[in-house]
Amino acid sequence: MTDPKPVLTPCTIGTHAFQNRLVLAPMSRASALDDGTPTQTMAEYYAEFAKGGYGLLITEGVFVDDLCSQCYSNQPGLTTPLHEAGWKTVLDAVRREDGKIILQLIHAGAVSQHVPKAFAPSPVRPKGEMLQGYGYRQGAYEVPGELTLKDIEDIETAFVETARAADRLGFDGVEIHCANGYLLDQFLTPETNLRADPYGGSLTNRLRITTNIIERAQTATSKPFLVGVRLSQAKATDQDYFWENGLDDAREIFTGVAKAGADYIHLASEKNGYAYHSSTRDGDNLTAFAKTITGLPVIANGGLQDMNLANEIISNEQADFISIGKAALLNPDLPKRLQANLPIRDFTFEMFQYGVTIEAQQRWEMEKAA
Ligand SMILES: Cc1cc2nc3c(=O)[nH]c(=O)nc-3n(C[C@H](O)[C@H](O)[C@H](O)COP(=O)(O)O)c2cc1C
Repeated sequence: MTDPKPVLTPCTIGTHAFQNRLVLAPMSRASALDDGTPTQTMAEYYAEFAKGGYGLLITEGVFVDDLCSQCYSNQPGLTTPLHEAGWKTVLDAVRREDGKIILQLIHAGAVSQHVPKAFAPSPVRPKGEMLQGYGYRQGAYEVPGELTLKDIEDIETAFVETARAADRLGFDGVEIHCANGYLLDQFLTPETNLRADPYGGSLTNRLRITTNIIERAQTATSKPFLVGVRLSQAKATDQDYFWENGLDDAREIFTGVAKAGADYIHLASEKNGYAYHSSTRDGDNLTAFAKTITGLPVIANGGLQDMNLANEIISNEQADFISIGKAALLNPDLPKRLQANLPIRDFTFEMFQYGVTIEAQQRWEMEKAA
């Protein structure tokens, strides 16, 4: 008998035990009802990954208030009783497959493609163009309005209340999204945060909204409930962004979220993959660094359907978990395939030819099969 593949070995976060280290990465599928209510199709979609053996599922980013947090049309929210009922259906479907599931909480800030007027830390137009296939607004971003201190406090409360709702529903935890150029990352990034109050200036100040949310969400939720955080250097519309002061910034960010009480750190990558995005400009590996200086479990991401690399990352203790994004869409049973030594289907952007929704993928798959 051969040794089990490292990614298929069990692992824990706090008192939560996971059957393996393969995590479904959060992916917005814009498949909720117009009011943000999750659907039966979404329940079946998430259950499929649980059935396929992923140790943990992280949902797509869920909006946290009805003001200006929504990023995309048909993005799911968790702000109304109807949303709660929809998520309960998703959760029940995942539990029937013995799955574990964490809800990702996001605020769009300047990069909303949905709300009539976007708000952000400072009136700075985001780089790049709006993402195709999401929302009715396309083209260049507009200059956002500037959030007041009262608005910021309300946003922190919205994240905390949504975390409480997720806890009440019975989710395993929430992931606070401070990555990829969305609101919390706009605060963290000096180019998009020109504030001169306690939320701008020093790195500690720029991280404050995130650390406040983590701290308050931990206090407001039950004990085994997890509060993780997703961080990244790159932005969805700025692939080559690196933290300006490399390891010095990384140290402050990682220890800041750890001190606030984060249960884990998930480091996101964009299209150039793990080796590029999860290293500083000087080539220092950031997932290993996060583990060493915080002692927290770390999730690595970015093109890690390359199982040689994924297994190496786990064996070398550079991370504890591996999250799989695009490749999971065509391999909802990837862990079971690995167990059985079956090949993994290659991801192709062709699958988005009818759009990014679950229904658009189903149409594409049916045509391929015909
Ligand atoms: C269709 C799609 C939607 C995504 N939506 C989210 C999201 O809601 N939240 C998030 O943190 N990342 C999101 N991402 C980024 C992925 O979680 C992941 O970081 C990225 O795809 C790189 O991993 P991969 O190489 O395994 O695909 C999305 C990616 C894709 C392809």
